[in-house]
Amino acid sequence: MSKASLVVLISGSGSNLQAVIDAIENKALDAEIKAVISNKRSAFGIERARQANIDTHIIDHTQYPDRQSFDQAMIEIIDPLQPDLVILAGFMRILSDMFIDHYWHRLINIHPSLLPKYKGLNTHQLAIDNKDKIHGASVHYVSHELDSGPVVIQAEVPVLDTDTAESLASRVLKAEHVIYPMAIRMHIEGRLTYNRDQLNLDGQPLTEPLIWKNAQLSGYTTTRHDE
Ligand code: GRF
Repeated sequence: MSKASLVVLISGSGSNLQAVIDAIENKALDAEIKAVISNKRSAFGIERARQANIDTHIIDHTQYPDRQSFDQAMIEIIDPLQPDLVILAGFMRILSDMFIDHYWHRLINIHPSLLPKYKGLNTHQLAIDNKDKIHGASVHYVSHELDSGPVVIQAEVPVLDTDTAESLASRVLKAEHVIYPMAIRMHIEGRLTYNRDQLNLDGQPLTEPLIWKNAQLSGYTTTRHDE
Protein backbone atom coordinates (compact mmCIF):
# COMPACT_ATOMS: atom_id res chain seq x y z
CA MET A 1 0.00 0.00 0.00
CA SER A 2 1.39 3.41 -0.91
CA LYS A 3 1.90 6.05 1.70
CA ALA A 4 -1.10 8.22 2.47
CA SER A 5 -0.89 11.89 1.49
CA LEU A 6 -1.67 14.51 4.08
CA VAL A 7 -2.03 18.27 3.97
CA VAL A 8 -1.99 20.15 7.28
CA LEU A 9 -3.51 23.59 7.87
CA ILE A 10 -2.22 25.63 10.78
CA SER A 11 -2.31 29.13 12.24
CA GLY A 12 0.00 28.90 15.23
CA SER A 13 2.40 26.85 17.28
CA GLY A 14 1.82 23.65 15.34
CA SER A 15 2.42 21.25 18.20
CA ASN A 16 -0.24 18.93 16.75
CA LEU A 17 1.52 19.18 13.39
CA GLN A 18 4.69 18.16 15.24
CA ALA A 19 2.90 15.16 16.72
CA VAL A 20 1.96 14.04 13.20
CA ILE A 21 5.52 14.62 11.92
CA ASP A 22 6.86 12.59 14.86
CA ALA A 23 4.35 9.78 14.30
CA ILE A 24 5.47 9.56 10.67
CA GLU A 25 9.11 9.58 11.68
CA ASN A 26 8.67 6.80 14.19
CA LYS A 27 6.59 4.79 11.70
CA ALA A 28 3.36 4.94 13.65
CA LEU A 29 1.86 6.61 10.55
CA ASP A 30 2.54 5.40 7.02
CA ALA A 31 2.03 8.81 5.47
CA GLU A 32 3.68 11.82 3.94
CA ILE A 33 2.79 15.42 4.68
CA LYS A 34 2.71 16.95 1.20
CA ALA A 35 2.30 20.50 2.41
CA VAL A 36 1.68 22.67 5.42
CA ILE A 37 -0.43 25.75 4.83
CA SER A 38 -0.62 28.63 7.27
CA ASN A 39 -2.75 31.73 7.09
CA LYS A 40 -0.20 33.43 9.38
CA ARG A 41 3.37 34.11 8.40
CA SER A 42 4.44 34.15 12.06
CA ALA A 43 3.09 30.65 12.82
CA PHE A 44 5.80 28.62 14.54
CA GLY A 45 4.41 25.52 12.85
CA ILE A 46 5.93 26.80 9.59
CA GLU A 47 9.35 26.50 11.17
CA ARG A 48 8.53 22.97 12.37
CA ALA A 49 7.51 22.01 8.81
CA ARG A 50 10.70 23.46 7.34
CA GLN A 51 12.78 21.54 9.86
CA ALA A 52 11.06 18.39 8.61
CA ASN A 53 11.64 19.34 4.93
CA ILE A 54 7.94 19.74 4.24
CA ASP A 55 6.71 22.24 1.64
CA THR A 56 5.15 25.27 3.26
CA HIS A 57 2.71 27.84 1.96
CA ILE A 58 1.63 31.06 3.59
CA ILE A 59 -1.78 32.16 2.40
CA ASP A 60 -2.52 35.36 4.23
CA HIS A 61 -6.28 35.65 4.60
CA THR A 62 -6.06 39.44 4.93
CA GLN A 63 -5.01 39.59 1.28
CA TYR A 64 -8.32 38.15 0.05
CA PRO A 65 -11.60 40.05 -0.31
CA ASP A 66 -13.72 37.28 1.19
CA ARG A 67 -13.71 33.84 2.78
CA GLN A 68 -14.55 32.09 -0.47
CA SER A 69 -11.58 33.48 -2.41
CA PHE A 70 -9.19 32.70 0.46
CA ASP A 71 -10.52 29.15 0.60
CA GLN A 72 -10.23 28.86 -3.19
CA ALA A 73 -6.57 29.86 -2.97
CA MET A 74 -6.02 27.02 -0.50
CA ILE A 75 -7.86 24.57 -2.77
CA GLU A 76 -5.54 25.50 -5.62
CA ILE A 77 -2.55 24.47 -3.51
CA ILE A 78 -4.20 21.39 -1.99
CA ASP A 79 -5.94 19.74 -4.96
CA PRO A 80 -2.85 18.95 -7.06
CA LEU A 81 -1.46 17.11 -4.02
CA GLN A 82 -4.48 14.77 -3.96
CA PRO A 83 -4.47 14.34 -0.19
CA ASP A 84 -6.20 11.40 1.46
CA LEU A 85 -6.82 13.66 4.43
CA VAL A 86 -6.79 17.42 5.07
CA ILE A 87 -5.89 18.00 8.69
CA LEU A 88 -6.84 21.13 10.61
CA ALA A 89 -4.30 21.55 13.38
CA GLY A 90 -4.96 24.79 15.19
CA PHE A 91 -6.23 26.44 12.01
CA MET A 92 -8.06 29.50 13.28
CA ARG A 93 -10.20 30.45 10.27
CA ILE A 94 -13.80 29.47 9.75
CA LEU A 95 -14.02 27.56 6.47
CA SER A 96 -16.65 28.22 3.81
CA ASP A 97 -19.23 25.57 2.94
CA MET A 98 -17.60 25.47 -0.47
CA PHE A 99 -14.27 24.33 1.06
CA ILE A 100 -15.93 21.91 3.46
CA ASP A 101 -17.97 20.33 0.65
CA HIS A 102 -14.87 20.05 -1.50
CA TYR A 103 -13.05 17.94 1.12
CA TRP A 104 -16.12 16.32 2.67
CA HIS A 105 -15.29 12.96 4.32
CA ARG A 106 -11.57 13.74 4.32
CA LEU A 107 -11.37 16.89 6.42
CA ILE A 108 -10.61 16.43 10.10
CA ASN A 109 -10.16 18.73 13.09
CA ILE A 110 -9.08 18.60 16.71
CA HIS A 111 -10.90 20.73 19.24
CA PRO A 112 -9.87 21.26 22.87
CA SER A 113 -13.06 20.19 24.63
CA LEU A 114 -15.27 17.16 25.05
CA LEU A 115 -17.66 18.02 22.24
CA PRO A 116 -20.52 18.81 22.09
CA LYS A 117 -19.45 20.83 25.15
CA TYR A 118 -17.70 24.15 24.57
CA LYS A 119 -17.59 24.76 20.87
CA GLY A 120 -15.55 27.78 19.86
CA LEU A 121 -12.92 29.52 21.99
CA ASN A 122 -11.86 29.66 25.67
CA THR A 123 -12.76 26.05 26.29
CA HIS A 124 -10.33 25.53 29.17
CA GLN A 125 -11.55 28.54 31.12
CA LEU A 126 -15.14 27.44 30.56
CA ALA A 127 -14.40 23.97 31.92
CA ILE A 128 -12.86 25.54 35.05
CA ASP A 129 -15.65 28.11 35.48
CA ASN A 130 -18.25 25.35 35.24
CA LYS A 131 -16.37 23.24 37.79
CA ASP A 132 -16.09 20.33 35.39
CA LYS A 133 -14.21 17.38 36.82
CA ILE A 134 -13.29 16.06 33.39
CA HIS A 135 -12.28 18.08 30.35
CA GLY A 136 -10.44 17.01 27.24
CA ALA A 137 -10.18 17.09 23.47
CA SER A 138 -12.10 15.69 20.52
CA VAL A 139 -11.13 14.69 17.00
CA HIS A 140 -13.98 15.07 14.55
CA TYR A 141 -14.68 15.15 10.85
CA VAL A 142 -15.63 18.61 9.72
CA SER A 143 -19.22 19.39 8.80
CA HIS A 144 -20.86 22.69 7.99
CA GLU A 145 -21.55 23.79 11.53
CA LEU A 146 -18.52 24.90 13.59
CA ASP A 147 -17.04 22.16 15.83
CA SER A 148 -20.05 19.93 15.16
CA GLY A 149 -19.04 17.09 12.83
CA PRO A 150 -19.08 13.48 14.01
CA VAL A 151 -16.60 12.81 16.81
CA VAL A 152 -14.19 9.94 16.33
CA ILE A 153 -12.15 9.95 19.51
CA GLN A 154 -11.96 11.93 22.72
CA ALA A 155 -9.23 12.22 25.32
CA GLU A 156 -10.47 12.70 28.86
CA VAL A 157 -8.29 14.87 31.08
CA PRO A 158 -9.11 15.39 34.79
CA VAL A 159 -9.47 19.00 35.94
CA LEU A 160 -7.42 19.67 39.09
CA ASP A 161 -8.51 22.07 41.85
CA THR A 162 -5.30 23.99 41.27
CA ASP A 163 -5.72 24.27 37.49
CA THR A 164 -5.56 27.53 35.60
CA ALA A 165 -6.68 27.69 31.98
CA GLU A 166 -2.99 27.52 31.03
CA SER A 167 -2.10 24.47 33.11
CA LEU A 168 -5.22 22.65 31.95
CA ALA A 169 -4.57 23.61 28.32
CA SER A 170 -1.08 22.20 28.46
CA ARG A 171 -2.27 18.81 29.78
CA VAL A 172 -5.08 18.70 27.20
CA LEU A 173 -2.57 19.51 24.46
CA LYS A 174 -0.40 16.54 25.48
CA ALA A 175 -3.45 14.30 25.15
CA GLU A 176 -4.23 15.86 21.75
CA HIS A 177 -0.80 14.76 20.56
CA VAL A 178 -1.78 11.17 21.33
CA ILE A 179 -5.29 11.02 19.92
CA TYR A 180 -4.80 13.01 16.72
CA PRO A 181 -2.25 10.64 15.18
CA MET A 182 -4.45 7.72 16.30
CA ALA A 183 -7.47 9.07 14.44
CA ILE A 184 -5.39 9.96 11.39
CA ARG A 185 -4.01 6.45 11.33
CA MET A 186 -7.46 4.85 11.50
CA HIS A 187 -8.55 7.04 8.58
CA ILE A 188 -5.58 6.43 6.32
CA GLU A 189 -5.68 2.69 6.97
CA GLY A 190 -9.27 2.76 5.74
CA ARG A 191 -10.56 1.42 9.04
CA LEU A 192 -12.34 4.62 9.89
CA THR A 193 -14.72 6.01 7.30
CA TYR A 194 -17.20 8.82 7.22
CA ASN A 195 -19.73 8.03 4.51
CA ARG A 196 -22.81 10.10 4.03
CA ASP A 197 -23.35 10.99 7.68
CA GLN A 198 -22.24 7.70 9.14
CA LEU A 199 -18.97 6.94 10.91
CA ASN A 200 -17.75 3.37 10.62
CA LEU A 201 -14.83 1.69 12.30
CA ASP A 202 -13.74 -1.67 10.91
CA GLY A 203 -17.02 -1.93 9.06
CA GLN A 204 -19.18 -1.35 12.15
CA PRO A 205 -21.05 1.87 12.92
CA LEU A 206 -19.18 3.97 15.45
CA THR A 207 -22.06 5.37 17.43
CA GLU A 208 -20.04 6.72 20.39
CA PRO A 209 -16.59 8.29 20.22
CA LEU A 210 -13.62 6.16 21.24
CA ILE A 211 -12.34 7.34 24.61
CA TRP A 212 -8.68 7.75 25.52
CA LYS A 213 -8.15 7.95 29.26
CA ASN A 214 -5.50 6.82 31.72
CA ALA A 215 -3.26 6.18 28.71
CA GLN A 216 -5.70 3.62 27.31
CA LEU A 217 -8.11 3.63 24.44
CA SER A 218 -11.46 1.98 25.00
CA GLY A 219 -12.98 -0.12 22.28
CA TYR A 220 -10.03 -0.28 19.94
CA THR A 221 -6.38 -1.24 19.86
CA THR A 222 -3.93 -0.06 17.27
CA THR A 223 -1.17 -2.24 15.89
CA ARG A 224 2.05 -0.84 14.56
CA HIS A 225 2.90 -1.12 10.86
CA ASP A 226 6.15 -2.86 11.61
CA GLU A 227 4.59 -5.57 13.76
C1 GRF B 1 -5.10 22.94 19.96
O1 GRF B 1 -5.53 23.08 21.29
C2 GRF B 1 -6.23 22.47 19.09
O2 GRF B 1 -7.13 21.62 19.76
C3 GRF B 1 -6.92 23.73 18.71
O3 GRF B 1 -5.89 24.68 18.55
C4 GRF B 1 -4.75 24.28 19.33
C5 GRF B 1 -3.62 24.18 18.38
O4 GRF B 1 -2.39 23.96 19.00
N1 GRF B 1 -7.73 23.54 17.54
P1 GRF B 1 -1.12 23.66 18.12
O5 GRF B 1 -0.96 24.80 17.12
O6 GRF B 1 -1.30 22.35 17.43
O7 GRF B 1 0.03 23.65 19.10
